[in-house]
Amino acid sequence: MANEWKPDRSSEQPIYKQIVLYFEKQIRNGELPPLSKLPSERKLSKDLGVNRSTVATAYAELSASDLITSKKGSGTVVRGSNRAYPGGQMPNWNRMLIAGTLLPNVPIIQRIAEETNHKHLIDIATGQLSPELFPNQQFQHILKNQTFDHPLSYEHPHGNLKLRETIARHLKIDKKIECTPSSILITSGAQQALHLIIQCLLKPGDAVAIEDPSYTYSLPIFRSLGIKTILLEVDENGVNPNDIHNAYINHRIRMIFLSPAYQNPTGAVLHPERRKKILKTAFEFGIPIVEDDPYSLLSFENEREATLKSEDSHGVVIYISSLSKMVSSGIRIGWILAPKQIVERLSDARQQIDFGSSIFSDWLAREFLNSDFYEPHLRQLKIELKIRRDLLVSAIEKHLPGQVEYTVPKGGIHLWCRIRQNHHDEKLFNRAVDKGVIYTPGIALGSKKGCVRFTFGRAAKESIDTAISAFSNALFEQK
Ligand SMILES: Cc1ncc(COP(=O)(O)O)c(C=O)c1O
Repeated sequence: MANEWKPDRSSEQPIYKQIVLYFEKQIRNGELPPLSKLPSERKLSKDLGVNRSTVATAYAELSASDLITSKKGSGTVVRGSNRAYPGGQMPNWNRMLIAGTLLPNVPIIQRIAEETNHKHLIDIATGQLSPELFPNQQFQHILKNQTFDHPLSYEHPHGNLKLRETIARHLKIDKKIECTPSSILITSGAQQALHLIIQCLLKPGDAVAIEDPSYTYSLPIFRSLGIKTILLEVDENGVNPNDIHNAYINHRIRMIFLSPAYQNPTGAVLHPERRKKILKTAFEFGIPIVEDDPYSLLSFENEREATLKSEDSHGVVIYISSLSKMVSSGIRIGWILAPKQIVERLSDARQQIDFGSSIFSDWLAREFLNSDFYEPHLRQLKIELKIRRDLLVSAIEKHLPGQVEYTVPKGGIHLWCRIRQNHHDEKLFNRAVDKGVIYTPGIALGSKKGCVRFTFGRAAKESIDTAISAFSNALFEQK
């Protein structure tokens, strides 16, 4: 919470006093209402890079001024109650925090999000590219040399037409998927695409099948909407078509969510035979498949993985992809390819949420995809990712010999490991964070205990070995 602010070391005001004023101001102006939690002394001193005694002195002064109170077990909180004000009462923010229909992320995901803000940690947790892998210079070139002459009004409800035309062309050339621009809806990343589909096309009580482990598993939206998830185990060839068959027979699943190419987190690719069987089963029972495909172009062996959509001769697949893993995650460009009435329905929902996509992001994405930069960037990115994958594998062999089981992924950005040694997932995670590395415990992505996801696309090349060495120290220390 406090990590965006740092004390001014050049100021004549003592650091403890700056901390006092920092909190006092926020308590008085309502940013920190009664019962708000303050960070522990240990955490704040780490965040601010100051001695713990400095924080203790600041907290003691705030406490003496009756602004905060510390209790064993519940930590330090802002004093007062919601009703303690003469002539009025404070809104009960704490009650509201648990009142919404969209549930919060599970604590381990929240913890990862929070910890990855700490610059001192080596990040092999976050599912995105390392800063130097993004095409920054190419974007700057476009911004300098291309004229942005688009009207500044809201964008078309489906997203910019020229971007949709570009994506339709890209789908045809790169993925052998035929479509027209009016079957495409631009979204704010694949994340929004998933949310729109789940919110608009399913209802409470429906059952859906999702991969286990998977990124989809980590989304609270299913629980938020009262949708039952049937787990399909992922092995090195993806999910088993028989499991889908059984899920339909036993639970009447209404939708299947699959990420068949370099799946997050396992890196698995759905076997071509399984692909065919799954399409057949989906058609036989009339179950739509949502194919989430952010990774299929990130192949290290120069053969592009076929998608379900490219073989979907009956039209049972809703296809999602995004620029996040191959160009930029911050540009927030994703897309859905679906039957036209579905695109209309989802676009209507998108209008209700935020009136559609950003003219600027749509324009930049279109310019980049149409430029001479795109192909060479993708080629270079795959080379760089492969180097990182190999560094990660070497580091695992060096620091964790015989300790983990894994399949070397042939594309994507993640490597999934099962740790042979018995361990406690959360305790191991805490130890690793203390040793300077953050990764994703498998429990955040599925039901299996004892597994971890290492993302090789995120960390700088030089730090991958250090990260695995730190992880190994954390693992061995807990014996
Ligand atoms: C399989 C999968 N789907 C969707 C997303 C969401 O990505 P974005 O919204 O950035 O496109 C991710 C991100 O890690 C992912 O791995």
